[in-house]
Amino acid sequence: MKYGYFDNEKREYVITHPKTPVKWINYIGTLSFGGFVDHTGGLLVCKGDPALNRITKYIQQLPSSDFKGFTIYIRLKHKDGFRIFSPLFVPTLDPYDAYECRVGLGYSRITTEYYGIRTSVTFFVPLAGERVLIDIAVTNIANHPLVCDLVPVVEYSHPIAIKQYNNADWVPQTMQSKIYNEDSGMKVLTQYAFCNKGITENFFTSNRPVSSFESDRKRFLGDNEYGRWSFPLSLRQEELDNYEAFRGDNIGALLHHMGKMETGETKRLVCQLGQAGDLEKALSGIKKFRKEKAVDEAFEELGRFWTTLLEKVVIKTPDIPMNNMIGLFNPYQCHTTFNWSRFLSLYQLGLGARGIGFRDSSQDVLGIMDRIPEEASKLIEKLLHVQKSDGSAMHQFYPSSMEANMGDAAESDDRPRYYGDDNLWIILSVSEYIKETGNRDFLDKVIPYYEKNRKGKPIETGTILDHLKRSIDFTRNNLGSHGLPLVGFADWNDSVNLETGSESLLVTNLYGKALREMIGLLRYIDDGETADAYSGYYEAMKERFNAYAWDGGWFIRYLDHNGNPLGSKTNDAGRIYTNAQTWPVISGFAPEDKARISMNAVYTMLNTPKGIKLSTPGYNRFDLSKGGVTSYPPGAKENGGIFMHANPWAMIAETILGNGDRAFEYYSQINPAVKNDCIDEFEVEPYVYPQNILGNEHPQFGLARNSWLSGTAAWMYQAGIKYILGIRPEYEGLRIDPCIPSHWDGYKADRVFRSKKFSIEVRNPLHVSKGVSSLTVNGTSVKGDIVPVSINAKEIAVTVVLGE
Ligand code: NOJ
Repeated sequence: MKYGYFDNEKREYVITHPKTPVKWINYIGTLSFGGFVDHTGGLLVCKGDPALNRITKYIQQLPSSDFKGFTIYIRLKHKDGFRIFSPLFVPTLDPYDAYECRVGLGYSRITTEYYGIRTSVTFFVPLAGERVLIDIAVTNIANHPLVCDLVPVVEYSHPIAIKQYNNADWVPQTMQSKIYNEDSGMKVLTQYAFCNKGITENFFTSNRPVSSFESDRKRFLGDNEYGRWSFPLSLRQEELDNYEAFRGDNIGALLHHMGKMETGETKRLVCQLGQAGDLEKALSGIKKFRKEKAVDEAFEELGRFWTTLLEKVVIKTPDIPMNNMIGLFNPYQCHTTFNWSRFLSLYQLGLGARGIGFRDSSQDVLGIMDRIPEEASKLIEKLLHVQKSDGSAMHQFYPSSMEANMGDAAESDDRPRYYGDDNLWIILSVSEYIKETGNRDFLDKVIPYYEKNRKGKPIETGTILDHLKRSIDFTRNNLGSHGLPLVGFADWNDSVNLETGSESLLVTNLYGKALREMIGLLRYIDDGETADAYSGYYEAMKERFNAYAWDGGWFIRYLDHNGNPLGSKTNDAGRIYTNAQTWPVISGFAPEDKARISMNAVYTMLNTPKGIKLSTPGYNRFDLSKGGVTSYPPGAKENGGIFMHANPWAMIAETILGNGDRAFEYYSQINPAVKNDCIDEFEVEPYVYPQNILGNEHPQFGLARNSWLSGTAAWMYQAGIKYILGIRPEYEGLRIDPCIPSHWDGYKADRVFRSKKFSIEVRNPLHVSKGVSSLTVNGTSVKGDIVPVSINAKEIAVTVVLGE
């Protein structure tokens, strides 16, 4: 069974059946104001922070058929009463004549046909306006006139989202709704927690006269809430009760009489759901978006935003699925992870357990760097505000308060309260930003470290360059008995929690990669002395790595506090880990022969046709000495599952070794578009990368979960563009060093780099994977594989010929 198809022309995925295997969503707006909408109109919206300022009540764990945050009811006069249905499928679950949900860039449009009415509902957040616009168009497609009412309904959450679920005493006593009658006769229904009255009030309004309204869920559903969302009893009455809730479960239901519609006639109703400090002040914005023209313009503006963004990098390869992914949904997902980190999805509940992750967002910015580097730099600055003065990093923070915490590392008293890798990722982000923009002044920006004095003022500040140096120092100062970096509470693999004193070979290699980046950066800013010192650190760590990490056929992953290896042939479970093989190639620590042997071990022991497993075999019982990884059954998540984030690192490592065919095999096998053909097995959205797929030790091998917010997006994007296509920004120019499948004749790409437009053509007459034999720039032959940034032209035509 298929549930949809890609409409690349329109830049949409079209869901054609409402009963998808699990809920499928799309993001609208940004973290400043926005959230997600599912394919049946369920809506989760917040402003600035889903944990501390949530607006709608969408409970992710509810069955797909349940009302979640928002719906619309249509009422048709029928005999003595009404026919009532929802044009969004949930919660009335009607057998429509037609259904589709178009998942677009920053919007979703659900169109259904039932009882002679075609309803098209577009959800989006305008670029400038802090509100969700719900643009409803109803068309009479019957062969007789129709009279209908439209009743959009929103259910509110307490702004402090967790309170909604853990306090049923305080919350209901604080929730209130009020109607605001404008002189024009238009109505705005407001809703707020009492402590936010006049400070942050939610508003719900529309561009047509509201005939009556309801704000109390109990009254709306009726019969002491034995009335159901699928058939609210209050909708049997001609009008709603115009009741302003003083407490309880607050909703906003606005009843509109759309009047008589002739055959073929369309009428529109535009609803706005937003939040305002001062409603009087918000009225001008509200009035603006009551005009259909303004709504249309805002929608077009959103489209133009995406066109501009997408045009910055355009690729044309012989592989259509790759073109489509890199041309559309991969950058879209990168933009989404950049916005939401791991804060809010169907899987990250946004209640406060996760926030903006230091490690996560440091990697997410790499996925948007070529298109919106200045936006990336703003997030980098925020991240650096939660770096501590010893160079370690707080694991996550909440953007509305900038309060940070150590995540799960705060849980155990006998374990370190830091993650061994967090501090190093930011070096990759900053160096990439400088390579992309050439803006070395960024390094001089002064940013406080996280610690505050009693008055809440930062105790110490440092330039961004100082922050990076402290990142290196932290790892250098926290080594174990073999002189390798300590794991901390965990490293990138959150779920392996070893006793204090354990050492991580992943952090070892990430440190190596970070040092290489620092050395390049320091040379770029003419600090040869520090660069030399860092080269010394690099060589020393490389030596230690090679003294302890080789296990015969592959590299080990950890040394525990007693010096015993994990990820070794001496282990029964967890004998080999993917990251332990890929990162030594990325860091340059692995000698070439061992790099090839270990990457072959990934291919033979860890690869499956559905993706590369993180480790194998899985641990098959809970073992406190290994931690969270053993809480999963074998094949799930980090315990032998296909953990997607780690797959692109294998692709990158293969390109470093020159294996374009294998890198591309890895790339293609996890392209979500491929999953469209086995979607009943895969289950989640086929237009974005999920975080994990169950591995082949699991009975449900191939089932994916945790879609959208995963580092997979940014790294797949980089693996595709920077390593397979080989278009990599460097300090001195744009490098073009492809490592492509040998059967390709070449590819073309357009890319904006440092305000210049590059038109790139790669030719592969000898059908090799790697090796630039000639580089021609605007007709002139250039040595090497870098197009120097000093070239004096706005438009640069580049021809690269691959060869021996
Ligand atoms: C998900 C987290 O968001 C990410 O930071 C981590 O690296 C992976 N889990 C692996 O454990």
